Amino acid sequence: MSSSRSRAKLENDCLPEQTDRRIDSLLALLAENPTIVISGAKIASEIGVKRQTVWRWIETLRDSGVNVKGHPRSGYHIERVPDILAPQLLSSHLRGTPFSKRILHFFQTGSTNDVAMRLAQSGEAHGTVVIAERQTAGRGRAGHSWVSEKSAGIYCSVILRPPISPMQAPALTLVAGLAAHQAIAEETGLSPDIRWPNDVMLNGKKVCGILTEMQAELGRIHFAVIGIGINVNHSKMPQELAGIATSLRMETAREHSRLKLLARLLRQLDRDYNQFVTSGSAPIVSRFAEVSSYVQGKRVRITTEQESYIGTTAGLEPAGILRVQREGGRVESIVSGTVSEVL
Ligand code: BTN
Repeated sequence: MSSSRSRAKLENDCLPEQTDRRIDSLLALLAENPTIVISGAKIASEIGVKRQTVWRWIETLRDSGVNVKGHPRSGYHIERVPDILAPQLLSSHLRGTPFSKRILHFFQTGSTNDVAMRLAQSGEAHGTVVIAERQTAGRGRAGHSWVSEKSAGIYCSVILRPPISPMQAPALTLVAGLAAHQAIAEETGLSPDIRWPNDVMLNGKKVCGILTEMQAELGRIHFAVIGIGINVNHSKMPQELAGIATSLRMETAREHSRLKLLARLLRQLDRDYNQFVTSGSAPIVSRFAEVSSYVQGKRVRITTEQESYIGTTAGLEPAGILRVQREGGRVESIVSGTVSEVL
């Protein structure tokens, strides 16, 4: 099979709900000509579809919060670049990084991590980005779900093929947390905290969570999928999360451009990932220790699959593993598990 045919087959098998690339072109056309009214006929001929299809897709965009003015007779226009995570709009901010080459967008999917895992298993390249406006089965760590309200947050997974062994994987998890921390700090002007291994916190509440999944053999990681969820423009959190989670908008009292924030995050991830691959875990671990209040002297509850206990954090090992001194003495190395502050 030719490579373009096998890619088309892969896309059909793995991505039945993927956004039609021509909707992406429609959005780019409107965004490149803000305030200019473009007739439905011109749009149809530029992107190669029927006028009725243009009308249908305009409705899809409106449903996702894009403020498209006009109607089939008069033509269409938008007043400002919409905050939709469309591949053509995003990739223009990511030139020079591996994340600009292949960006897959869904108006709705189950979980971007599931899509990215399937693609990576089928050989998808390092740097591929999967984004959804809404997830119906967003997954968090330790079997939790991730609330993914339509177009309010960032739901994104990236495929990485790091030349490292599984022993170095904990530091890769910290890399993703550091990148999200930096992007959120720049976007808000606030000083977020990071709860080990990579929850970004604002004023004691979680604003960003990261789910790292990977396929590896003894000495080598085949691929890692880094799934990042950020609560951006939620005006409130569901009642059951209100005490522990927040959004950028709730903390800053203003809306934020998801497109700019995601571009910032992926550019920062590129820088931090390169530092990790070229210089190893030491600079990552020391930067993490500088920005996280959880690394040293924090009273925490550790919950693993086997047990739950209270202790005090006692620094990071060179690979990024957290050390915790149990009440009563013994120091544990936490490879995986949930950490929560004990007040
Ligand atoms: C956590 O803190 O528990 C991790 C949350 C990770 C959520 C993101 S949203 C994008 C990606 N797709 C998923 O299903 N999960 C991750």
